[in-house]
Amino acid sequence: MTTPHMTIARTVRGLRIIATPWKRAGLRVGVVPTMGALHEGHLSLVRAARAMCDRVIVTIFVNPKQFDDASDLAAYPRTEEADAALLREAGVDVLYVPDAAEMYPPGFATTISVRGVSEGLCGGARPGHFDGVATVVCKLLMQTLADHAFFGEKDFQQVHVVRRMVTDLNLPVDIVTCPTRREEDGLAMSSRNRRLSADARARARALPQVLQRCAGRITAGETPSAAMEQARADLLAAGFDAVDYLELRAASDLVPLMDTPTAPARLLAAAWLDSVRLIDGVDVAPVG
Ligand code: PAF
Repeated sequence: MTTPHMTIARTVRGLRIIATPWKRAGLRVGVVPTMGALHEGHLSLVRAARAMCDRVIVTIFVNPKQFDDASDLAAYPRTEEADAALLREAGVDVLYVPDAAEMYPPGFATTISVRGVSEGLCGGARPGHFDGVATVVCKLLMQTLADHAFFGEKDFQQVHVVRRMVTDLNLPVDIVTCPTRREEDGLAMSSRNRRLSADARARARALPQVLQRCAGRITAGETPSAAMEQARADLLAAGFDAVDYLELRAASDLVPLMDTPTAPARLLAAAWLDSVRLIDGVDVAPVG
């Protein structure tokens, strides 16, 4: 069996030398932006990109601008060789791995800031995080010249921020979202999971379970505030150290919901377990 060919580009120039002829030839280009430490969730995005596009680029860049905590940035797993092997097998055409000097050369002075959907939730708990995400995603979309860009629904607020930016700036790219991939016990796949000790990993499964139970109670007519208060208590009782947020938001525009939802909603949470911050979200079916 021959291993499929995948080119690794580390500069914008190198990437453009490959992508520009694709665009001239009318090929559909897909990009899957990542920070590496790839798992099945990322690979499901790659498969979706392959199904929809003629050429697929995956980007790996641990973006310093979206980390509000230097120790979190330093601890972020970096596994380029293993990632490249997975992507080669998955039939990716180009792996783009710029370094920080390529992405933010001396004199770099532009920040993209999306108001509204970036406020509260992860934006509230991590100041500046979504400015960093929006800025780097905009650059990656422009650098790759992608027609379609693929994001996981696990980062639900991130998807809203990216969609708002793409609409507001008229970026010529279609944003495609794919469902959250989960481990057998329901824990959402995340690069951060590999930082959990065996004991913390066993406790982590409570997050999706508590969220599902809470969503069920809200759909059954329980007052959202009471159901969410119980869910917070359940997370702490299950061994989580702290809950950053646990909120009910409209699925379409992230507006906070106080009452029983009458349109599709999403229950979103971030919680700490042994210095690892996990996020997750589940759909809440509307009532009536
Ligand atoms: O979701 C991520 O991994 C990152 O936020 C992204 C979209 C690659 C931007 O750095």
